[in-house]
Order: sequence, then structure tokens, then C-alpha cells
Amino acid sequence: MHYKTVDEFQQEREQLNEIVLKYAQKQIKRFYSLDGQVYRKGALPAKIKELLGLVSSLALRCDDCIKYHVIRSYEEGITDAELEEALAIGLVVGGSITIPHLRRAFQTWDEIKSTQSESGESDKKALFDSLTTEIESFIKMDMGRDAKLATICNLLKEKVSYFDWVGFYLSDPLKKAELVLGPFAGEPTEHVRIPFGQGICGQAADTKETFVVQDVSKETNYLSCSPVVKSEIVVPIMKGDAVIGELDIDSHDLSPFSEQDSVFLEDLCRLLANKLF
Ligand code: SME
Repeated sequence: MHYKTVDEFQQEREQLNEIVLKYAQKQIKRFYSLDGQVYRKGALPAKIKELLGLVSSLALRCDDCIKYHVIRSYEEGITDAELEEALAIGLVVGGSITIPHLRRAFQTWDEIKSTQSESGESDKKALFDSLTTEIESFIKMDMGRDAKLATICNLLKEKVSYFDWVGFYLSDPLKKAELVLGPFAGEPTEHVRIPFGQGICGQAADTKETFVVQDVSKETNYLSCSPVVKSEIVVPIMKGDAVIGELDIDSHDLSPFSEQDSVFLEDLCRLLANKLF
């Protein structure tokens, strides 16, 4: 059987609805409008209503209905876990005969998720290219180094949705192997001094390598700034063989960083090492 992609499905659905509406009189039109109304946000949030539609569609084994509600649930922002729990209810209600339809539900979900992550990565590239151009031009301007670093923090935090805290730690010239908090954007942190080796920052200073932590709850050597932080990336700023500072970024999302983040931030830190230190 030919698998209809989400685009093909939506196109076909629209075309067929146009044909229906060409012939439809009052009764069919009223039913269509009722269908629209019951899924609208009311006492129940729209997301829950879509999941209810999905569960009943699975129990009733209607593939087109399942596909429609998987797409709508995605648009309402459901997570993998919410989808899985809802489908588990449909499976329990409908029994093993719904399994072929359960497969199709996850197939649609998987298609949506992989298409979104590809387009997310190309959006990221465009954003990082434009940020690099902007930073390259303003670091030539006549202002102090800390003001430039602060501007970079604000810019990154404002423009990249999942950068929730952006800050620089600089190696203390007076105390060997210790980082001191420099300019930052986001909530103030108690970690204003970090010895090399401690936390994500201290470990990155020791290894002189970018340290990406997609889930901070899995790290034992981690200094927490806030319980809402879920992930972190730390990039050392190198001058020759010495770590002169670091760029540290916290995110409230789980696993938001890809290879592109590391490449962009490493290029940025090299640029800063050359132009500002
Ligand atoms: N989490 C860091 C401490 C610094 S805050 O993220 C601002 C660490 O483990 O080193």
C-alpha cells in the first residue's frame, strides 16, 4: 500500500473536501461546522481534544482520522511521551486488532518529527551565519572588551530560542587554574568562581575541548545554577595552548544542541581569541 506523506494527505483531504462542499447542502455543512466547533479550545485545552480524537480514531481503526489527529496534535505541541500515552489508551481500548493502525500513527509522527528536525537544522544554519556577520562587524567598533562580550551574550540569548543563559568565564590572571565570571545575559548565578576540574566549565577548562551536555541530570560533576536548566554547552577560548576563558550556554530544553552549535560557537570563540584577547 502506498504511504501517503503528510503533504500528500493534506492536499488530498483539501481536494476531497472541496468536492464534498460542491454538493453539500445544509445538513452536511452543519455537521462539518460542528466537527470544527467540538475540537476548539473550551473547558478542555485543544491539545487534549486532539488526543481524545486520536484515541477514539485508533479504537475505531480509521487510518485517515488517525493521521489527521496526529498532525493536529503535533501542531498543538504534544510531546513524544504524550503521544505514546494517548496511543497506549487507544491500544488498550481497541485491543491487538488496532496494532496495524498504531504502526501508521507512529509512522506519521516519525515523518513529521524528522522533517521538522531537518528544516530546524537549515534554519539554524541561516541564523548562525547572520549572527556571525553581525558579531564580526560590531567587534571592530570602538568600545571596551567587556561591553563587546556583554553585547554578544545579549545577542545570542535574544536570537537563539534555546540559549537561556549565555556568559563568559575568564581565566583569573592572579589565581592559576580558576575561572571568574565575566559578562553574561540571564539570571545571576552563584557560581562566580569555578576552579578548573569542577563542573562542566571546570572540566572543559581541563580538557581544552568543547563540552556538550544534552541532559545535565545525567552529569555527576555539574554545578547547578537553576533547576530549570536542562542542558549546557561550554566552549573554551584558547590562546595558543592556554585556556584564557570560556563561553558557557545553558538551555531550558533537553538535547537542543547539534554539531552546528558546536561549530558556530567554536568559530566564534576563535574569532574572539584573535580580535579581543
Ligand atoms: N553549570 C556550570 C556552572 C555555571 S552555570 O551554568 C552559569 C557548570 O557545571 O560548570
